[in-house]
Formats: sequence, C-alpha cells, structure tokens
Amino acid sequence: METWDTIIIGAGAAGLFCAGQAAQTGKRTLLIDHAKRPGEKIRIAGGGRCNFTNMHAEPGNFIGQNPHFHKSALARYTQWDFIALVDAYGIAWHEKTLGQLFCDQKATQIVDMLLTELEKTGAELRLNTSVSDISHGPDGFRLSLPTGPVQARNLVMATGGKSIPKMGATGFAYDLARQFGHEITETRPALVPLTFPEARFAPLAGVSAPARVSNDRTSFDEALLFTHRGLSGPSILQISSYWREGEAIRVNLDPEATLFDTLRSQRQSEGRRNLTTELARHLPARLVDFLAPELGLTGNLADQSDARLREIVDALSAWELTPNGSEGYRTAEVTLGGVDTDGLDSKTMMSKHLPGLYFIGECVDVTGWLGGFNFQWAWSSAHAAARHIAAS
Ligand code: FDA
Repeated sequence: METWDTIIIGAGAAGLFCAGQAAQTGKRTLLIDHAKRPGEKIRIAGGGRCNFTNMHAEPGNFIGQNPHFHKSALARYTQWDFIALVDAYGIAWHEKTLGQLFCDQKATQIVDMLLTELEKTGAELRLNTSVSDISHGPDGFRLSLPTGPVQARNLVMATGGKSIPKMGATGFAYDLARQFGHEITETRPALVPLTFPEARFAPLAGVSAPARVSNDRTSFDEALLFTHRGLSGPSILQISSYWREGEAIRVNLDPEATLFDTLRSQRQSEGRRNLTTELARHLPARLVDFLAPELGLTGNLADQSDARLREIVDALSAWELTPNGSEGYRTAEVTLGGVDTDGLDSKTMMSKHLPGLYFIGECVDVTGWLGGFNFQWAWSSAHAAARHIAAS
C-alpha cells in the first residue's frame, strides 16, 4: 500500500501552505483535492487581487466560541511572516484600506507562490481525487482513493467550510471530526449580505453610503450598499457575522456626527434651500428621496427648528432595520463556527482525541472579519500544524 508521513485533504489556502511547510524536513507529504484546480478561493478573492492578509491583524479580529484559542497560532506565524514570504517572491502589493493588503497584479501569484513552495519541498499534489472512506488503526490513517488505499501517520483536514457549494465546498471536515469524536459548534453563513422582506430597498439598488452599522455586541464603520434583495457592503458583511435571525441592526448614516452642526450653520447661510436638496449634499440623493416620506422631510432649511433638525439627524443616526434572512452559503465568504476548538490543541491544531489528526483553516471554529483576516488564519493555523508535523 502507498504510505506517506502526512496526507492533507483540501488544496485551498490552508492545505497548500501546510503541505509546503510540513514537507520541509523531508517528510513525505501528499495533498489531495477533489477539485480540478488548487486554491480556487484564493484566485477569486478580493475581486481577483486577493486580500491575502491584514497589517493590523490581532486576536480581536476573530470570532469563535473560545476567544483565546487562535492567539497562539496567530502569534507564532504573523501577518509580517506572510508578507515576508510574499516579498521574497517579488509579488508587489498595496494597502487598499484599513490595513487590507492586496496583490498589485493578480491573485494567481499567491497560488503560484504556494505551488512553488510545495514543489520545492517535494510534496505531491493530486487533484480530481475524492476520498470515499477514512479509518484509523495501528498503522495510522487509511484512506480509500479511486486509485486504491493509501495510509499515513498524520492526517490534516483542510477542506474549508460550507460557503459557495458551487466551488466544491462540502462540510467534509465536520463529518470526519464527528467520526473521531469531535464536537461541531453551530455553523452558519457569515460575511454575507442581509435580505429584507418585499424587496424593500430595491429602489435604492446600487446606492452606497458610509455608515456605522451596529447591534448590541459590536459596530463597524464602513461602506453600506443597497441591493435588490437587501443590504450589502463591508459594514453589512461584517455585522452579518454577529447577527442572528429576528434581531435588528442599527444603521447610522451620520457616523462622524457632524450633520446636525452642518445643517444648523447652513440654515444661517442658505436657509431658503430645500431641506432634501441640502441633505442630498451629505447623503446620496436617491436615499434622501427614499427616506423623505418616512421622515416627513419637507420645507426649506429655514423652516426647521433646532429641535426638528435634531429629530431628523437622530432618525438618520439610528435607523433600526430587521433583516428577514441572509443570502446564505451561496454568497457567504465564510462559515462561522466549525470544529469545536475545545477538542484541539491551540499550539499545534492537533486533535486531543486522536494524535496525528489535525484541523486547519476555515473548518475550525475560528472566523475572521472581512479584510484579509480569514486568509491570515489559514496561513497561521496551517503553519502551527506543519511545524508540529515537521518536527515530529
Ligand atoms: P478553502 O475553501 O480555501 O479550501 C478548501 C479546499 O478543500 C478546496 O480546494 C476544496 O476543493 C477542497 N475540498 C472540500 N471538500 C473536499 C472533499 N470532500 N475532498 C477533497 N477536497 C475537498 N478571505 C480573505 O482573507 N481575503 C479575501 O480577499 C477573501 N475573499 C473571498 C472571496 C470569496 C468570494 C470567498 C468565497 C471567500 C473569500 N475569503 C477571503 C475567505 C477565504 O477564501 C477562506 O477563508 C479561505 O479560503 C479558507 O481557506 P481553507 O484552506 O480553510 O479553505
């Protein structure tokens, strides 16, 4: 039977990186994926430019049932370590906003870099390969592949989460984790647009505005985008990871809290101007038209008392909205929840139930914010497992 030191299932961000690192000390490493090409999500990430990490990455940017679990891996392999690797390959990058780093050219440069690392260390990549059965015995893990059985001392699960099933996402890691006695925390679509009944915002589709979007647990200051089915844009994707069915979110369209003073001073100098025309200097005109009947926005600026201006600004600052759902795994960037970290060692990602079994990347109950954090978790968790495997 074909025998390997380590078999990694899933040639996405975490699996590709792990394979190259784990094989560095000459350990025979096989990387398997059922897809035709490796690293598909890296290729499409960041609109084809891949937001591969975030300069400000720190533990607070990650969500999981245990808020401490991810600290060790993130500290041992940081964003600066990955940036150094990207620099060593001469891949040009830039900061877009809020510490988010993107390739200047294209995301495939990151995939090519990971494939080169893998080839350098002699790890083998097998695509178009499905695993039908996995068992564990005295000789380690035994996997059934279409070409016959293979075995390995170590098995690394890097098959990601459930988001974008069209791209081959399966939830396979959760099934295998259960098979070997692991718990799975509730999984749900995250970094996902939110929907509203009766296409409430359809007339505003395409309009975007800076906003602070919050709930009782957190808040995000980023752009908000109206869509045919609801709300999207970075601020909404971020809050979606903290939203639960039936809950409201608050949208503040005056995040800098400057509107009241601005309108008051404009009332002095331009009091004869129409209130909605004036508001449209600070907010998108289509949004002002949409809100005008709801907020009773009529008359000239001079007609508005301080109390009335305050009332309008308060309404624009605390617009309470209750989504009826999300766009689901079809468009979600990530899966919240996953393999319960209580069952994993935080320094090595190894199972506490079955030595030699590892879980890395998105399948673990560690989910990053929008902005390069999920790839950083893929790199850091992959590195933690690979170091342990390479040294064992
Ligand atoms: P990933 O999903 O990358 O890889 C899993 C691999 O396992 C796949 O190759 C799949 O084919 C394979 N697989 C699954 N089931 C299998 C099975 N049963 N047998 C064999 N193989 C199997 N993050 C970020 O930080 N910056 C960004 O710019 C973006 N942008 C972005 C855009 C879009 C559209 C999406 C959907 C997601 C992002 N993300 C992101 C999130 C990021 O892509 C994600 O967190 C990482 O790819 C997770 O890496 P993993 O290696 O864990 O899973």
